[in-house]
Amino acid sequence: MKQVRMLKKAMKEGYIVPAFNFANFEILRGILSVAKELNSPIILQVSESAMNYFSDELLSGIVQAIRKIRHPISIHLDHGKTLNVVKRAIRLGFDSVMIDGSILPYEKNVKLTKSVVDYAHSKGVSVEGELGVLAVSNDDGLLSDGERFTSPKQAKEFVAMTGVDSLAVSIGTNHGVNKYVGEPKIRYDILKKIEKEIPNIPIVLHGASLIEAKCIEDINHFGGKIDKAIGNENLLKNAYKTHISKINMDTDFRLAFTSAVRKYMSENPDKYNPRDYGNAGIEAVKECAKFRIVSICKSNNRA
Ligand code: G3H
Ligand code: 13P
Ligand code: ZN
Repeated sequence: MKQVRMLKKAMKEGYIVPAFNFANFEILRGILSVAKELNSPIILQVSESAMNYFSDELLSGIVQAIRKIRHPISIHLDHGKTLNVVKRAIRLGFDSVMIDGSILPYEKNVKLTKSVVDYAHSKGVSVEGELGVLAVSNDDGLLSDGERFTSPKQAKEFVAMTGVDSLAVSIGTNHGVNKYVGEPKIRYDILKKIEKEIPNIPIVLHGASLIEAKCIEDINHFGGKIDKAIGNENLLKNAYKTHISKINMDTDFRLAFTSAVRKYMSENPDKYNPRDYGNAGIEAVKECAKFRIVSICKSNNRA
């Protein structure tokens, strides 16, 4: 199903389409089996660095295999930075792409995004753009609210000028394990204003991993060292009631996989077959996906 249709259906019916990145084959296996088991639509995301990790040759085979599965699955380029990488993803068979010009000056973001929309739409591919900066600081120090958060008025103009199908916004979340400085907070007040300006455009929330304390504890207990991990699962529990129609999670799956593999290896020092600890990782990914689909996205039985 074309991604934009998936997102508009979710927005209308009050749930969120989970958009989960797969950094390796095991994470893909875990996510896919849970999406089918729970009858949830799913967006499988690949970043440029993940594309390089898989290699185009093998990834195109994976994409073709996924496209044969009878289930609402969209294969999406995450954080494409150039028209060239967008073209590469479309060649590989992706049905949707993100062009992320969010760190560019506004006019350049508009220009780049519009060029991607013109190209992708001519190939029947949906486009997600991004406006606002998902970071709490840059080289000059902490960013002000005005520098970070998406301006609702500008969002309206951006959508009109570029023709994007969905818009990623900055309302307080961040990528990676350290999500918040000070009190964790998502600016639903800004989101409301954005929704008023672009009522028909599905909103995408990046940096939405929950960063469960137990997972971090396990990683550190079994020999890892992850400092200052800050997330908050309560902040997202009503997100499905808003126009957020796609929620991006990657870090949670990396953490779940890593903690299970560390635990398995520590408890089974004699094992050296990657499929043994790989299976432990897949099981952890499944648990991670189940909770997020059922409790955050409410997308089970919506396929
Ligand atoms: O938002 C970024 C994603 O988590 C992708 O990260 O480039 O390390 O695959 P990556
Ligand atoms: P997390 O780092 O919170 O998983 O965010 C992932 C993401 O936004 C991918 O685009
Ligand atoms: Zn992201």
